[in-house]
Amino acid sequence: MEIDVNKLIGSALETRKNAYAPYSNFYVGAALLTVSGKIYTGSNVENASYPSGICAERSAFSAALSAGERNFIAIALTGGKNSRKAEKFCYPCGMCRQFMSEFCKSDFKIISAKSENKYEIYTLGELLPKGFDLDV
Ligand code: THU
Repeated sequence: MEIDVNKLIGSALETRKNAYAPYSNFYVGAALLTVSGKIYTGSNVENASYPSGICAERSAFSAALSAGERNFIAIALTGGKNSRKAEKFCYPCGMCRQFMSEFCKSDFKIISAKSENKYEIYTLGELLPKGFDLDV
């Protein structure tokens, strides 16, 4: 399936505006593309009890999984301290990489974006080599 990278990044940039990050002031948006061609979005949502917060990637996955989706192609993410502009590339935290590996194969694409035309593409296998797997 062809990935419309610009559209996926656009969704992540738009969703980042809804990030709730009063504690870290680090705003993240994610947009997840399913095999069915739908896009599910998520932002980070923090909490006064810090560990209760959730990352943008797991927000997006939770939305998709809760809607019954199980097959995924790619996720775009964008984040940074400046709420309007992502100045650096942002990469998924270790917990999110492991979370993704539950539902995605090693060729799942992770697109880290500063803007629609400034992005890097990795595979989950590259970002999580030798991830935990009960079946090994
Ligand atoms: N965060 C994400 O949303 N995704 C990541 O992959 C890394 C970190 C969020 C969590 C927290 O709200 C803020 O960024 C600072 O850690």
